[in-house]
Amino acid sequence: MRLKLPPLPYAKGALAPHLSACTLDAHYEKHHKGYLRKLTKLVRGKPEENLSLEELVCRTTGEVFENAAQVWNHNFYWRSMRPAGGDGPGRALRELIANSFGSVADFKHRFAEAANGQFGSGWAWLVMDERGRLRIQGSSNAENPLQQDCVPLLTLDVWEHAYYLDYQNQRERPRARLPRPSAELGIPRGEPGRRASSTKSRV
Ligand SMILES: [Fe+2]
Repeated sequence: MRLKLPPLPYAKGALAPHLSACTLDAHYEKHHKGYLRKLTKLVRGKPEENLSLEELVCRTTGEVFENAAQVWNHNFYWRSMRPAGGDGPGRALRELIANSFGSVADFKHRFAEAANGQFGSGWAWLVMDERGRLRIQGSSNAENPLQQDCVPLLTLDVWEHAYYLDYQNQRERPRARLPRPSAELGIPRGEPGRRASSTKSRV
């Protein structure tokens, strides 16, 4: 299948002043598209060319996995943020967050800690495991929760390219205004234990 990137879900300047149009332009046009270009080249003429992006993430290793996962992670990252912070989590997700972390404010604090504490390049994630429990976790480089059969609900890119143009080495500064977990990315209604395989097609 021919892989292509979805367009950004908002204008490149829509996340300012937290992330500038310059950062989004470089991040999307150079880094995100760069992973896709490399992935396309790596699978061209090979059996992997017929796999979906999610299948590439879950079934491959090495450079193909790294570039496929980075394409998927960035697709999900753009949808994890909204201009002006969105409306916050919907009721079902808010209740699950409260049960797991105390409150949305407590969750944001712990999520920021996970993002700031991730050593080197990687991602911070809010995921639902196969038993329907929420968990905050970090991942290195391109690692992705789909590999663990978890449902990703929110992610934050903590590679330097995600913030360096705006904040240089101050990784914690953009995390001071975390995106809110959006209702759109919330828990499938009535299916708290839905597994990643049934969610992958949404991204
Ligand atoms: Fe990135």
